[in-house]
Amino acid sequence: MADMKSFYITTPIYYVNDVPHIGHAYTTVAADVLARYKRLKGYDVFFLTGTDEHGQKVEKAAKSAGVGPEEFVDSIVPRFRALCEALNSSNDDFIRTTETRHKRAATALWNSISKSGDIYLGEYEDWYCTPCENFLTEGQLVNMKCPDCGREVERLKEQSYFFALSKYGEKLKAYIEANPGFVAPKTKKNEILSFIDEGLRDLSVSRTTFTWGVPVPGDEKHIMYVWIEALTNYLTATGFPDETYLKYWGGVESGHEVVHIIGKDILRFHSVFWPAFLMSAGLPLPTRVFAHGWWTVNGAKMSKSTGNVVDPFAVIEEYGVDQFRYFMLREVRFGLDGDFSIPALVRRINSELANDLGNLLSRTVSMIEKYTDGVIPACGQGREEFEGPVDALFSNLGAEVEECMEKLDFYEALVKIWERVREVNGYVEKSAPWKLAKEGDAALPTVLYKLADTLRVIGLSIYPFMPGSATGIWTQLGIKSDIEESLFDSEIALGSIDISGLKVDKGAPLFPRVDEPSIDVEPA
Ligand code: ME8
Repeated sequence: MADMKSFYITTPIYYVNDVPHIGHAYTTVAADVLARYKRLKGYDVFFLTGTDEHGQKVEKAAKSAGVGPEEFVDSIVPRFRALCEALNSSNDDFIRTTETRHKRAATALWNSISKSGDIYLGEYEDWYCTPCENFLTEGQLVNMKCPDCGREVERLKEQSYFFALSKYGEKLKAYIEANPGFVAPKTKKNEILSFIDEGLRDLSVSRTTFTWGVPVPGDEKHIMYVWIEALTNYLTATGFPDETYLKYWGGVESGHEVVHIIGKDILRFHSVFWPAFLMSAGLPLPTRVFAHGWWTVNGAKMSKSTGNVVDPFAVIEEYGVDQFRYFMLREVRFGLDGDFSIPALVRRINSELANDLGNLLSRTVSMIEKYTDGVIPACGQGREEFEGPVDALFSNLGAEVEECMEKLDFYEALVKIWERVREVNGYVEKSAPWKLAKEGDAALPTVLYKLADTLRVIGLSIYPFMPGSATGIWTQLGIKSDIEESLFDSEIALGSIDISGLKVDKGAPLFPRVDEPSIDVEPA
């Protein structure tokens, strides 16, 4: 498929100074949902996640663990890989910045920037926040602490290479204005534009007071600033500097999309520094940087000292991976902040998943077993009063979901899908198949077919969000084809595929109801 458009989607690469929590899981799930959706839309998708392993923060963590940095990162990375598996993430690659391919790409990018004359040697004398790996001026500090994480900062005075970021303000603004979707959501775009308007200072891009990182080519006592090196990971995974990188990294004009999904904490790095580095190196820019919101837990910031850091593995084990994925994307609109609590998760599982969708499936399959020997009957002529409203509502589903997904409005997409789930539940009540069966009414096969078909379509539309459950729905309906291989556009309409004659296969409840929370997340 030579003309297949590519869609390159990334998560941040996570620091391995500590084990993953639900914040990391959230970004990975969101990127996975989009990757799976785009595959259904026929794109050649490349989905990347991974780990950020260099820098002072990780070096310090290794020191306090009493081991060398290599040994330390090697001990943490498996936890991040395991998280991908536990989340059912369909990432095509998992990059580690300690890999040779990455050092090669970071060195190549540095050389290109240097060739363009944008790197010069100077001395950095100001503040540094190690938890954020961020250079700060005194004016930016709040009570002499980091304005972003509120933690202690340290005074640095060392020789450093600088990147001529100040040259790029106007060019960056022009790119952001010309590509209105580049920084999203919109509020974030305005925030970035005002940040640029305040004036960009040249950026220190090397350090000499520690060694855990990629050396600056030609001056190896300098270690590349971890952010310039880490951001390069997105290029590394495309094969950069080999020409093959252009397959996924074509720039806006190529029509190929490159989407970085990140948390709002690291927006400046992605929408100011990163495009400036790329401009300097003469490379294409990503097409979108989407900054999502921040999760608190029971109303409080997640922190080790408070002891309220939620372990995604425990939540998944207790409540199920699809339940977790659904909750995270349905609880708050993507882009806004959210609050995680087990009671809120349990409420959504019991009402929207078990009651609304799970029941609909189990009723439908049971009725087909009971009334038509477990075989989906052929569909007769629909009745205006009964099937008419269902057909009407479903006729817009594909377009509405598509519109939401293009905006990364996962929340709204789920709202739209659940409008349909509720409509179909209403249709069951209204058309009362048990009465039709009793009365030998000829409308019965049509109702049963319609129910099965709406579930087929609901299954397809929830697939990106809950791949396992979507597959479960199709299996119970007796559909043998692989849902992953489906095409959204040609299969999302009711009646687009004939499922009559399929033998249903009633399985365990899709979403068992859950009782009292048994996971211990201390209230703040
Ligand atoms: O910043 N709510 O890594 P990191 C929502 N290595 N999202 C959260 C979250 C929360 N409470 N906590 C973390 C780094 N995240 C760098 C990135 S990229 C070239 C380098 C998610 O381990 C969110 O995506 O601190 C955030 O941006 C990311 O984890 C930060 O991960």
